[in-house]
This record gives sequence, structure tokens and C-alpha cells, in this order.
Amino acid sequence: MNKYKPYIKKYWYSFLLGPFFMVLEACGEFILPFINANIIDKGAANGDVDYIIQNGLLMLVLAVLMMATGVLGANFAVRGSARLAAGVRRDTFRKIQTFSFSNIDEFTTGSLITRITNDITQIQNFTQTMLRGMFRSPIMLIGALVMSFLLNPTLAWILLAVVPVLGITIWIIIRVASPRYTKMQEQLDALNIDIRETITNERVIKSFVREDYHKEKFAGVNHALMEKSTKALKMMLLLQPISALAINVTTLAVVWVAGRQIMVGSMELGTLTAFITYLSQVLTALGFLANVILQGTRAAASDRRISAVYNAEVSLDDRFVTDPEDQVSSGAISMRDVTFRYFKDNEEAVLSHVNLEIASGELVGLIGSTGSGKTTLVSLIPRLYDADEGEVLVDGRKVQEWSLKHLRDSVSVVLQKNTLFSGTIAENLRWGNEQATDEEVQEAATIACSHGFISALPDGYETELGQGGVNLSGGQKQRLCIARALLKKPKILILDDSTSAVDTKTDATIRKAFREKLPGVTKIIIAQRINSVLDADKIIVMDQGRIVGIGKHEDLLASCVPYQEIYWSQKDREEVEHHG
Ligand SMILES: Nc1ncnc2c1ncn2[C@@H]1O[C@H](COP(=O)(O)OP(=O)(O)OP(=O)(O)O)[C@@H](O)[C@H]1O
Ligand SMILES: [Mg+2]
Repeated sequence: MNKYKPYIKKYWYSFLLGPFFMVLEACGEFILPFINANIIDKGAANGDVDYIIQNGLLMLVLAVLMMATGVLGANFAVRGSARLAAGVRRDTFRKIQTFSFSNIDEFTTGSLITRITNDITQIQNFTQTMLRGMFRSPIMLIGALVMSFLLNPTLAWILLAVVPVLGITIWIIIRVASPRYTKMQEQLDALNIDIRETITNERVIKSFVREDYHKEKFAGVNHALMEKSTKALKMMLLLQPISALAINVTTLAVVWVAGRQIMVGSMELGTLTAFITYLSQVLTALGFLANVILQGTRAAASDRRISAVYNAEVSLDDRFVTDPEDQVSSGAISMRDVTFRYFKDNEEAVLSHVNLEIASGELVGLIGSTGSGKTTLVSLIPRLYDADEGEVLVDGRKVQEWSLKHLRDSVSVVLQKNTLFSGTIAENLRWGNEQATDEEVQEAATIACSHGFISALPDGYETELGQGGVNLSGGQKQRLCIARALLKKPKILILDDSTSAVDTKTDATIRKAFREKLPGVTKIIIAQRINSVLDADKIIVMDQGRIVGIGKHEDLLASCVPYQEIYWSQKDREEVEHHG
């Protein structure tokens, strides 16, 4: 509830005026049948034309006023609920931005998308219904009941009998529908997860000709959603035929009793007309309340899902920061006896007892077989994850003691799986640093060996990139990602296999530029090719989550068995390639 309060406060006028105008409209609804009854019983019965005209005009004015208040009320209800939803959506989005990788792993991206869109829309719909009927329906219900008791108590009792019947029906429906709504939203998550995964990987799917498999998989998820929503929504729709039956039976009973009263002359025809109007008002109000309750049940299921996002404990925070203003200056890195697991109950650690020292400005190569833990090792430096045991230090201070913002500002990681956004090349590069001047952008592009190919494009830096940079080659994309990382002017630059699609010569040119242009930046280069790390100040060799060698190429070649294995396997291949 707390998450809605600020917006109810901020848009209080909508939340006040919406119900206010709807109540005004409701008042009109009581008065109209009363005048109507008078026209029939007093005007028509006595042939008083003036009376009929006067009261007819009054009814007309009242009807126009009711329309005006109805329109105003609906307007405020729509505005208020849309603004509340926008606010909550923004807050939810902000909260998700604070999430650590493990939080996102836990919720899954697809589910977060459902929560921020569909679930918040449920809240919006419910708020809108509430604003329109919150006071109007109870007032109409009570008002119409009072009026009908005033008109004819005997008939009013018949009317009242329908209330418990509907009440029990609603109660049963809610009990059954509530868990079904939750299941329906969960299935919607599954659908979104599937859509996201399939559409973002459409290229891979096409290249493996796996469309049929994914069509079938989607059909399965889609069918399940259809079944779950049918189950949930049919409970809601059940209400309508049941209340229609209740209305008809009640009307019948009223007409039956009233008919006898009219025959014996103890009741007038106009009174019966008015009574039937009140009767339908009571039943409409009851139906509306039932609907509000049902929508509320659905909104409550969504609210629980949004609350889970709000209440998620962000596993990485600034709890231990010593000085929030401090910035990383040298970029030296050390790890002391670091152990890490992605799943805390796993026995096997992904990193075990890692120790290393990297001095400021060094160029370090990190090499090791696939799955040996290289990416994991470097993700501990900008605190994408926290080590379970041991310490990771930057500038001699534990990473937890730097503010996350300053730490991450000073560490640029070109991730193994990196993406560009739709927009121009210049916009994409400036994404790393909005304030960068044209010269800085060009300089970064030059270091990353991209200036050449960018200038060769007809629109140069203003070339529009398609979604995810589809209109560039793999190696061009990688180089843009490097340039983008450089523009952040980091103290520590980490390239995770970021030149895998770049040819050997360009790869070497980039490394040479790193040495010459970025002497004060600590550089860690993860690579599959030994060539990419050959000239590093030191090379770290990893195997199964452990560091098995640190040193210069020559030393490692002489003493480190895993390094020799990598070296010779690549050497052999090279020779085959040369001679073949
Ligand atoms: N987000 C994750 N959740 C769970 N396990 C993970 C995750 N990322 C990696 N792992 C596991 O951790 C181990 C090390 O993975 P890591 O990505 O660090 O290897 P790597 O050396 O970078 O490999 P590659 O050369 O293929 O990039 C692997 O066994 C992998 O299955
Ligand atoms: Mg990796």
C-alpha cells in the first residue's frame, strides 16, 4: 500500500474529485425516479399539463447535469489511475535498476517485464473502477434501499432478500478465483520469458533452422496461458448470469406482490414504476460492488507480485562505504584468497582461493580453458557479484568500501556478450560518457581501431545502428564496444574476450595503442588466443577456478603445464593453417 500513497497524495484532486462527481451523479439517480413517479401519479392522473411540463423540464435539466458530472467523474478517474500507474511503474523501474545480477537471475527478465507492464495495468484498472464506484455504489445502494422503504416497505423487504444471495455467490467466486489469478499471472511470465528469449535470438534460431521447435514451444506456453486465464476469468463472468437471474426473480416477485396491491387500490402505478427503477439501481450497485471486489482480488494478486520487486533485498549495496565521495585513483587490484559460488549450496566453487596482485597501469593477460572462471574472476572487480570468502581490493581498499557508483565508474568492462543500442554510432559511443567531446569520441574510436571503418561509412559517426547494431560486422561491433568503454575514462579496463572477432593484426594494433595511449589505466585482457596476451606485462593462467600460473610468456612456457598445453594446441593449429 505504501507504494501507492505518494501518488494518491500527489494527485489528491483526481482521487477526491473523481468520486465526488460520481456521487453527485448518483444523487441525480435517486431524484429522477421520484419526479417520474410524481409526473405519472400527480400530473398524468389529474391531467395537469403544466405540472407535467414543469417537472419534465426539471428532469431534462437534471439529466444534462448528471451527464456533465458523469463525464467529469470519469475523466478524473482515468487521469488519477493513469498517473498512479505511471508513478508506480517509474518506481518499480528504478528499483530494478538497483538490482544486482543475482536479483535479476532470481526474478528472470521476462517476469520483471510482466510485473512492470501487465501487473501494474491491473492496479490501474482497479484504481479506475474504484474511483468511479468507491462511494457512488454504496451511496446508490443505500439511497435506493432507503427510497424503496419509503415508497413501500413490503416490497422493499423482498428486495433486501437478494442481498445475502448475491453476497454468498461473490464470496464463493472470490475464494475460487483468487489463486487462479496468481497462476494466470505466473503463466503470463512464462509466456513473456519465452517471447523475449525467442525474439532476441531470432538470428540464431533461423541459422539453426529451429523455427518449428520454437513455434511448438510457444504454442505450448500460449495454450497453457489460455487455459489458466479461461479458468480464472470464467469465475468472474459467472457473476453476471447469476445476478441477472437474481434480478429477474426479484422483479417477478415485486411485480407479483405489487400487482395485487394495485388491484386492491393500496398502491399507485407510478409508485411501482419508481420502485422498479430503484430495484434495478440496487441490483446494479450490488453487481458493481461485486465487480470491484473481483477486480480487487485480481489486483491484489498483481500487487503481491509488484511488492515482491519493491521488497527484494538488493544483495549489493553501499552499506560498508567508508567515504561516498572518494574516487578510485590508481586502479591497482588485489585478490586475497577469494572463493566464489554462483549457487551458495553448491559444493564445487567456481573460484577457489584466488590470490593475485595487479599494479596500476599494468597490462595483464588472462587465459584459461572455457569455463575456467575468467569472466567470473573479473566480475568481482566492479562488484557485479560479491566474493563469498576472501577480499577483492581496488587501490588497496575493499570493493565493498567504495561507493558502487564510483567503483563502477572507474572500471570499464567490455563484457563477453555485449550489446549496442539502436541510435547513431556517436550516440552509442557517448553512452559511455555523455559529456565526451567530438575529439574525445574520435580519439577513443582511434585507439579501438574503429575510426577507419566508421569514417568509411557514408554517414560516418552519424550512421544509424539497427537494433543491437545488426548492420555491423561482429568485429566492428566489438571495437565499438571497446571505444565506448574507453570513453568512460576508466582507471581499470577489462576486455572479456572482446577482440575474438577481430583479426590478429588489428588486435595487436589495439594493444599497442593501449600501451601508448593509456599508460595509467590498468588493463586486463581475457583472451582465447595466446597471441592476444603474448606481450602482456604478466599473464595469469586459470584452470578449473584456480590460478595455476602467473608470469611472463617465456617463464610460463618453461614452467606452467596448462599454459604449455594451450600454447602448443594453438601453435599446432597455426602451423596446420599455414601449411594447409
Ligand atoms: N550467471 C551464472 N550462474 C551460474 N553459473 C554460472 C554463471 N556464469 C558462469 N557460471 C558457471 O561458472 C563457471 C565459470 O564460468 P565463467 O563464465 O567464469 O568461465 P570463463 O572462463 O569466462 O569461460 P569462457 O572462456 O567460456 O568465457 C562455469 O562452470 C559456468 O557454468
Ligand atoms: Mg567468459
